[in-house]
Amino acid sequence: MAWRGVIEEYREFLPVSDTTPIVTLKEGNTPLIKAENLKRKLGINLEIYFKFDGANPTGSFKDRGMTLALSKAIEADSKAVICASTGNTSASASAYAAKAGIKAIVLIPEGKIALGKLAQALIYGAHVIQIKGNFDQALNIVKAIVQKYPITLVNSINPFRLEGQKSASFEVSDQLGFVPRYHALPVGNAGNITAYWKGYKEYKKAGKITSLPIMLGFQAAGAAPLVQGKPIEKPETIATAIRIGNPASWKGAIEARDESGGRIDSVTDSEILNVYSLIASTEGIFCEPASAASLAGVIKLYNKNYFKTGASVVCTLTGSGLKDPDIVFKVSKEPLKVKAEIQAVEKIIEGII
Ligand code: F0G
Repeated sequence: MAWRGVIEEYREFLPVSDTTPIVTLKEGNTPLIKAENLKRKLGINLEIYFKFDGANPTGSFKDRGMTLALSKAIEADSKAVICASTGNTSASASAYAAKAGIKAIVLIPEGKIALGKLAQALIYGAHVIQIKGNFDQALNIVKAIVQKYPITLVNSINPFRLEGQKSASFEVSDQLGFVPRYHALPVGNAGNITAYWKGYKEYKKAGKITSLPIMLGFQAAGAAPLVQGKPIEKPETIATAIRIGNPASWKGAIEARDESGGRIDSVTDSEILNVYSLIASTEGIFCEPASAASLAGVIKLYNKNYFKTGASVVCTLTGSGLKDPDIVFKVSKEPLKVKAEIQAVEKIIEGII
């Protein structure tokens, strides 16, 4: 049977009824890929898998939560949704609002989101407001706006977002046929790690799995409030998706860490960029820089002998690299240019093979 989207596939775990209108772009069912080449290249004794959520309809994991958030907004007769975003939430909210036939208003930090994400919000027909400030300030503004106007907030403080995002841990368990020993994620506003942990616990309670993974969250070093134990007023990182100084799901992330016996750590921008190009060139998966924080963190901990040898580790790659191609030119060589002549091309080829 064709994949029906996250809500229909996992209906029994989600707060929907027979009368809830379902707004879906058939999100979910994203590839789980074993990283054999990478293992060999790094000489690392771990079984690494990528959950590539960049393969969702708008190119990020946000679609898993947005299908539920928009379905519940329509059920409640809402006429508009609003969010603050570092880019992916705004892209996803805009697409699902378009599908639902209601308005989307998105607040983004001016100059600090990937161009592809801004392009998505615009083409999906959202009202885009750029603020001269960062994500944390934008989130404070939208929280105040929804107190005053009849607009539904679709940031991850909307509980339906996390309910939908739980589906990723169901899929990982179903696709692997077992529960990984470790599950690593990039952490920004901390909604996703909270959702994964909730999902694993509910799947275990329902008897679908028999163990739980150890949760590992990784923040960018310049935007690592959870690691430092205090909000960061001016977060900075090349991984703009996780450029967040005061995560809304702070408590959820700490619970996931502590209940699972895991860790929340940080990785530098240069570690992120190295791993970003490594994943693409060894495994053929083009993820965005923020996504690479998951494997960058795993490599950092591996080098500190953190892992049991041979353990299984799933790294979620949260978004598609196509959203932010500018970054490629910071880490790759310029393409060669030659005359349109066979000999000129042959000369180069002989240097390659
Ligand atoms: N990876 C990507 C590609 C993201 O876009 C985000 C968050 C994260 C990781 C972190 O997930 O916030 O649940 O801890 N992006 C949000 C946005 C903040 O507005 O698109 P998180």
